[in-house]
Amino acid sequence: MFEHRHFRLKLSVTSALAGALAAVCGLAGCGGNGSSSGDASASTTTAWVWALPGGFPTPAVPADNPMSAAKVDLGRFLFYDKRLSGNGTQACASCHFQDKAFTDGLAVSRGSTGEFTARNAQALGNVAYSPTLTWANPSLVVLERQMEVPLFGENPVEMGITDRNKAAVLQRFADAALYAPKFAAAYPVDANPVNWGNVINAIATFQRSLISGNSKYDQATSGLAVFSVAEQRGKDLFFGDKAACTQCHQGFNFNDQVIDASSQAVKKPFHNIGLYNIGGSGAYPEPNRGVMELSGLYQDMGAFRAPSLRNVEVTAPYMHDGSVATLEEVLDIIAEGGRNIASGANAGDGRQNPFKSPLARPLALTAQDKADLIAFLKTLTDPDFLGNPLQSDPFKLP
Ligand code: HEC
Ligand code: HEC
Repeated sequence: MFEHRHFRLKLSVTSALAGALAAVCGLAGCGGNGSSSGDASASTTTAWVWALPGGFPTPAVPADNPMSAAKVDLGRFLFYDKRLSGNGTQACASCHFQDKAFTDGLAVSRGSTGEFTARNAQALGNVAYSPTLTWANPSLVVLERQMEVPLFGENPVEMGITDRNKAAVLQRFADAALYAPKFAAAYPVDANPVNWGNVINAIATFQRSLISGNSKYDQATSGLAVFSVAEQRGKDLFFGDKAACTQCHQGFNFNDQVIDASSQAVKKPFHNIGLYNIGGSGAYPEPNRGVMELSGLYQDMGAFRAPSLRNVEVTAPYMHDGSVATLEEVLDIIAEGGRNIASGANAGDGRQNPFKSPLARPLALTAQDKADLIAFLKTLTDPDFLGNPLQSDPFKLP
């Protein structure tokens, strides 16, 4: 029933390469140690070869969780499997839909027991390159640790795995015939491979394989497609001084926090772009005050990570709290240098937020300029990524 598919990413058995891949994290500060599993054999017998789009650097991979095709395959099944929640109703994919670049189309998400998250579910394309994870957490730096939030978090409950049901949830995978060969292939040296460390490592490995780099923009860059007049005008604005979007959305991933295998020093900027200014105090609504929620520092008020703009056409609604419905509204806000909220609990003129980044200044954009910028943003949509059969729901019959 579950057809075994071939991976586009090729395997080879050069152990020299495997060693190089295992070492990539070294100085780069991939951060926190992964999980407690030993899968040394995967790193010495099979080397993963990235099939990367032009201009994409090799992702940094934690030394203790090297890439392998078997782990990506296992991780894909686990990512889509609702058995991975306490009450069996929710998978990672319940809030991260492939056709929406792994967002969920909602302003904020709803966990397995009905509780709402504070923030908007993020896209997962090219997440392997993020040196910090989630919208505003400078200390959450590796996928293996981020995952503990949806799996085990209590505030809010997402997948609802607790100390009481943890063993039972794992037993579901030990009991499922489908998984025995997959865990064995992914962790060949483990006598009992069905453990939380291995589950987490496999899903992280799957997530690192989610590379998006075949949009019209990429094709135009390599001469395989031609921009329309509007798209080209939008591109010139985006990269030029008038709109200067590249101050924060730059490089191959259209953001400004990137780590790769060769990174030495990694910048981790966060920006307040003036979405709120409650009562003129500079405040953003709790618990969405950005990095300040963790640092307690007013200078971090409203500071969020600039999202990648790849596939942004399909990731509405926008911003950390999903409070902006359309790209047209996003462009209006950015052109104004912030958002003025006239009434209600969050009333205040974000354009005057005292903690706003100096880079988020008002821009003299015409209606035509905004439309052209949106036309350009839509060239960042990558249909191959949104429909890649190797990353789709394996439980769905074709
Ligand atoms: C209930 C909905 C929900 C579920 C279930 C869920 N997520 Fe998320 N995910 C979110 C939200 C909301 C965010 C943004 C969190 C924040 O900023 O605080 C997010 C953020 C992320 C990020 C950070 C992306 C980035 O660019 O930094 C990753 C990675 C991620 N999720 C992976 C997963 C994995 C893996 C699972 C399953 C183990 C999962 N998610 C389950 C809603 C969900
Ligand atoms: C000062 C840095 C900065 C500049 C300059 C900037 N952005 Fe952003 N952008 C951000 C940040 C930070 C966010 C998320 C803010 C939040 O959620 O609070 C964002 C969000 C967005 C979003 C919503 C994406 C999503 O997934 O929610 C779009 C679209 C966007 N920016 C496009 C642009 C365009 C187009 C320009 C140029 C006209 C631009 N940005 C200039 C930092 C910047």
